[in-house]
Amino acid sequence: MNNLYFQKTKIILSIFLMFILVIQKGSIKKDNLSAVGFGKIILFNEHFVVYNVSAIAAALPQKVTSTIIKSDKFELYPKILEKEDTLKAINKILELLNLKKEKLKFTLAFESQIKPGSGIGSSAAFAVAAIKVLSKYLNLNLSNQKINEIAYEVEKIFHKNPSGIDNTISTYQGIILFKKENPKIVKQINFKEPLIFVIGESGNKSYIHPEQCRGTKKAVEKVRKLKDKNSEKFDLLLNKANKIATKSLKAITNFDLQKIGNLMDKNHKLLQQIKVSTPGLDKLVSIAKRNGALGAKLTGGGLGGNMIALAKDEIDANKILNAFRKEKFNCFIVKTKNRNLYDFEGEI
Ligand code: MEV
Repeated sequence: MNNLYFQKTKIILSIFLMFILVIQKGSIKKDNLSAVGFGKIILFNEHFVVYNVSAIAAALPQKVTSTIIKSDKFELYPKILEKEDTLKAINKILELLNLKKEKLKFTLAFESQIKPGSGIGSSAAFAVAAIKVLSKYLNLNLSNQKINEIAYEVEKIFHKNPSGIDNTISTYQGIILFKKENPKIVKQINFKEPLIFVIGESGNKSYIHPEQCRGTKKAVEKVRKLKDKNSEKFDLLLNKANKIATKSLKAITNFDLQKIGNLMDKNHKLLQQIKVSTPGLDKLVSIAKRNGALGAKLTGGGLGGNMIALAKDEIDANKILNAFRKEKFNCFIVKTKNRNLYDFEGEI
């Protein structure tokens, strides 16, 4: 009797389980497919990388997610994306993938954990997420190399003259050494242990810079004008940035945190000299240094946006975080993650 009761319960439970599995499978429908593009921080040599100096970038866990939702026509969601650069970006992606809007019956929806114009790679993450989800949904089987190439064309819309570092790190993740050309270098760097950074956002009202929030395009343009105006002085700065590139790679290989921090400080000074820092960013940098950061610098385009502070350990990171919070700056802690470039070929 007991045995019969047990058998019956087992059958009922199995049917119930099967039912749940069918429901779950139904909800992973192709028309609700998502893909992500990751944000980034630049550890060394933003801006100088545009002039072919090597730079180092690390992917952030913060991301843009793009989702396909079946519909009777092609649309973007939220609607605000259907204008200016974001619309041009999507049109460029469709053109490069030979896709005709009239034939597409879905909404391309976006969700972002990255504030636009804050220097942590929202535009590249937007492009990468869109290209990856289209590839997956339409069975295009795009390689990461192809995804990265298309994302670079999209970055040209957003930033006019980008180096390509943002789309590359967003596509491949991990931590990369990047050089634009002659020869182009994209190499994963493996850290012995994760690096701990505190990221501080300079958008504090009392430190708004007149040029804040106008994006990387504006900053890159400003640096180009500076270079054209005084190319000799700019060449000297490029030389210094090149030395930082070589030394930082060595410091990373030796996992010499003190040296990495020291070089970040030097890098920030160079970025101040090309006038992409702001009072808000400089204030965050000095708060971080006063509170035990090994090194601190702006990250990304500058003219507002975010900075990074390298912490020795989690205790120090929290000390820096609290000091930022005390001054009402938005901030968070991230740990870098190693990743093997080739492991992720074709992965979403
Ligand atoms: C922006 O994240 C990095 C810049 O160096 C621009 C670029 O490399 O394209 C400022």
